[in-house]
Amino acid sequence: MSFDWTTIEQEAQKEINQASSAEAIEALRIKYLGRQGLLAGITGSISSLSAQERPEFGKKANYLKNKLTRLFEERVSQLKEKEAHGLETFDITLPGEPIPQTGSLHPITQTIQEITAIFSKLGFVTKEGPEVENEYNNFSGLNIPLDHPSRDAFDTFYLKSPQSTVHSPQSVDKRYGLSTMDYRLLLRSHTSPVQIRVMKEHKPPLAVIVPGKVYRPDAVDASHSFVFHQIEGFLVDQEVSFADLKGTLTAFAQRLFGEKIQMRFRPHFFPFTEPSAEVDISCILCSRKPRADSREPKRCSVCGGKGWLEILGCGMIHPNVFANVGYPKDKYSGFAFGMGIERIAMLKYGINDIRLFYENDLRFLRQF
Ligand code: PHE
Repeated sequence: MSFDWTTIEQEAQKEINQASSAEAIEALRIKYLGRQGLLAGITGSISSLSAQERPEFGKKANYLKNKLTRLFEERVSQLKEKEAHGLETFDITLPGEPIPQTGSLHPITQTIQEITAIFSKLGFVTKEGPEVENEYNNFSGLNIPLDHPSRDAFDTFYLKSPQSTVHSPQSVDKRYGLSTMDYRLLLRSHTSPVQIRVMKEHKPPLAVIVPGKVYRPDAVDASHSFVFHQIEGFLVDQEVSFADLKGTLTAFAQRLFGEKIQMRFRPHFFPFTEPSAEVDISCILCSRKPRADSREPKRCSVCGGKGWLEILGCGMIHPNVFANVGYPKDKYSGFAFGMGIERIAMLKYGINDIRLFYENDLRFLRQF
């Protein structure tokens, strides 16, 4: 009996390579290597051979068996690999895998960038100052008297270390009967001390914007945090008027909140500005929606029905501040303003709890 060993081998190899699923390979394996398969049939016929023919025949049958076994193994692992790479089922017309969202800037950072970009177009430069400040820059230099409540330890974080007092060459506290005093270090309670730092270092004209963190020992709730962010702005030159302040802030608010926003300046008091004002914008929620029934005004969830939202404090820089930084008397005038960034971001994005900014909850952060 003679077999065309080569043809059998080639046929099998072709079929195995064409098998494209585990089931198809298994069916072929049964066909060739199974108990009633082709190879079993071949070896079964060995009994009809003469003793001289048998060794040669056995060798060939063994070779075929080993070869086919190897081909099956190779094909199985080949298919597995293709499956892992998705090559077998790859459809080039399918849309690509979405790239998992990369990070984004924190809403506070975004708001700072938006505000500084607006002021940059108005000619302001951005400056930063330290969060650990001395009492002089945070209070005295800004014309805040020694008995002002904001200096109280209930309202300002003082640093208690023995090295935390600095001696200032200034003698502004003379006015309060002190020739000089040692100034403790503290966590700045507003960004206004950067006015003192910049003005001491630079002569007018100045137009500066200062974003940064500030600290106050407030109990944390939906609208208070012991640390938050402010943006300070100030402009100093000759013959700067309150009209310049109004124009600058109006241009700013309209760019940030929309052209239709209205502004209201309410007289206020700050020790470092005179005159001073608090600025409101018309409510960004209810002023756009005329009330259905004017006899029963609905309580607006943003302004509480008042129609106005306070956004910042401002005023004309006090002459005592200019004196404290060493500017010549009556030469310069200027304005300053300060706003809380969280409050601006909360109004802009409709956020009702300040704590959301600090909790690093991705469900909140992914919305920005
Ligand atoms: N520093 C003031 C505050 O924190 C804000 C302010 C800044 C007011 C500049 C007037 C001028 O409340």
